[in-house]
Amino acid sequence: MLTTIADLRSFTASQHRAGKTVGLVPTMGALHSGHLSLVRESNKRCGTTVVSIFVNPAQFAPNEDFQRYPRTLENDLLLLQKDGCTPNGKTEVFVPEISEMYPRGFDTSVHTGSISQVLEGRSRPAHFQGVATVVLKLFLASQADTAFFGQKDYQQVCVIRRITADLNVPLEIVMCPIIREPDGLAMSSRNRYLTAAQRQQAVVLSQSLQLAETMLRSGTADSAAVQKAVTEKIQTAPEAVIDYVSIADPITLQELPAVESEAVILLAVRFGTTRLLDNLHYVL
Ligand code: PAJ
Repeated sequence: MLTTIADLRSFTASQHRAGKTVGLVPTMGALHSGHLSLVRESNKRCGTTVVSIFVNPAQFAPNEDFQRYPRTLENDLLLLQKDGCTPNGKTEVFVPEISEMYPRGFDTSVHTGSISQVLEGRSRPAHFQGVATVVLKLFLASQADTAFFGQKDYQQVCVIRRITADLNVPLEIVMCPIIREPDGLAMSSRNRYLTAAQRQQAVVLSQSLQLAETMLRSGTADSAAVQKAVTEKIQTAPEAVIDYVSIADPITLQELPAVESEAVILLAVRFGTTRLLDNLHYVL
């Protein structure tokens, strides 16, 4: 297990000297099959994978769950051991302390533009600045060739793609599909906060996305009509409180009045204090 940026750098350098490419999978731990799918994809495409585990304080607002965010390092390492080491690869883990990532005097952050102000950015104004800063630091610290992110956090991928393009970061971004529970709920480290009743109700998220897809495939192009049907479906869950239902351009995330050939439908819904995200990328 690596804990310092200096050791991470020398690890990557040694891999590069051995002719191996390095894939980076940034995480905040509390690993589940969604995270492991990214590790598998990295192992498939790269010679070595670095999984970072760091609960990044900069992306949590003061009223959010930084303190209670699940920290399950021992179990995470076990899961990676069992799952991460595919025949062609070795998985290394980077687990820095907060003081390693944000030493005394740290005073810089990455300001992201309009793409981070919609959707999640409305409810969580400083969130993407925190994500962008830590992700760019991880890119530079790891010197990885490719980084793997989940579609589960669709806007996060858009923001990170924007940063790498705008700042000429020489690293390829790969977006991996959403891994779901058998009943359709997108896996998330935060699902464990749900009560049993909320967990049952949370299935409306993926069901409402399926409904949207069915409507679009059967010729409904009007976003307002799809948005209304999705909203009504979610509202059948007694504890669901909708934050947004957006039908947007897959790259700019600006809302589309009508869907022609492609759109992403993005949801954020609260159950009590737990906020869940889901989305579906629709292509005709
Ligand atoms: P975290 O929530 O731990 O997620 C780490 C990565 O796993 C992200 O790329 C996320 O999209 C992906 N992921 C989560 N659930 C998934 C699922 N059900 N299917 C597929 N992929 C899934 O996202 C973060 O951490 C942080 O913001 C981070 C990028 C690490 C920066 O701190």
